[in-house]
Amino acid sequence: MTNKYMYFIANWKMFGVLNSLNTLNRVVKFFKNFKKRKSLKIIYCPPSTLIEPMSKKLRGSNIEVGAQNCHQQDVYGAFTGSVNSSMLKSVGAKYIIIGHSENRQAGETDKLINLKIKSALKSGLKVIFCIGETLKAKRKKITKSVLNKQIKVGLKNIKNNKKIIIAYEPVWSIGTGIIPKSDDLFKTISFIKKEKKNYKVLYGGSVNPKNINQLKSINNIDGYLIGGASQDPKKFIDIIKKTYN
Ligand code: 13P
Repeated sequence: MTNKYMYFIANWKMFGVLNSLNTLNRVVKFFKNFKKRKSLKIIYCPPSTLIEPMSKKLRGSNIEVGAQNCHQQDVYGAFTGSVNSSMLKSVGAKYIIIGHSENRQAGETDKLINLKIKSALKSGLKVIFCIGETLKAKRKKITKSVLNKQIKVGLKNIKNNKKIIIAYEPVWSIGTGIIPKSDDLFKTISFIKKEKKNYKVLYGGSVNPKNINQLKSINNIDGYLIGGASQDPKKFIDIIKKTYN
């Protein structure tokens, strides 16, 4: 049972077409009747193509919508295939995920992430800033220095900002079904909170209805960034229900 204000953020990644929005009906209904609704925030981050229809569908539900990435430039430009943060805001995004490891692996650097965060804040979006170490770094026992660099460079020249939530997502945990040992996770979240005081810190990586009881017992986590399980409304609702059980 938690008394804290918690975030449940769904990252749909590159999944979903218009029909997929029907799966939200169940979540909207659940949230409307959920007794603890005032103590949590639900945010869905679908692919860009679904931001506008999803925002319309969720109007009045208290569930918010976010984007998954943006170009670093906040004004228009000749960048084929890209969208910027103000364009995402214009179709209903209130949040944006930046620095996800799937984009870091595709070449996104800490410096680029810093520019993207600045651009998103300028456009009035709240930022879900992802950090996390690879399996190789974990084995080398350099997790702290990896996270320290990601935080230092990623948030360079950005003042302590209530508009940024940090999501700790160990790369080796994403999509693998493996979550960190409770003690390790508690220590890593504490470390991040010490590096960036007063920031909310979420956990992401294979969060599902089976491991949520273990995760919720770690009392310094402010919520979850959920990939695969967030596409299934039943699993997503189960995760929330169990968190408050
Ligand atoms: P999974 O929950 O599918 O492991 O994905 C986590 C994630 O990358 C959320 O951003």
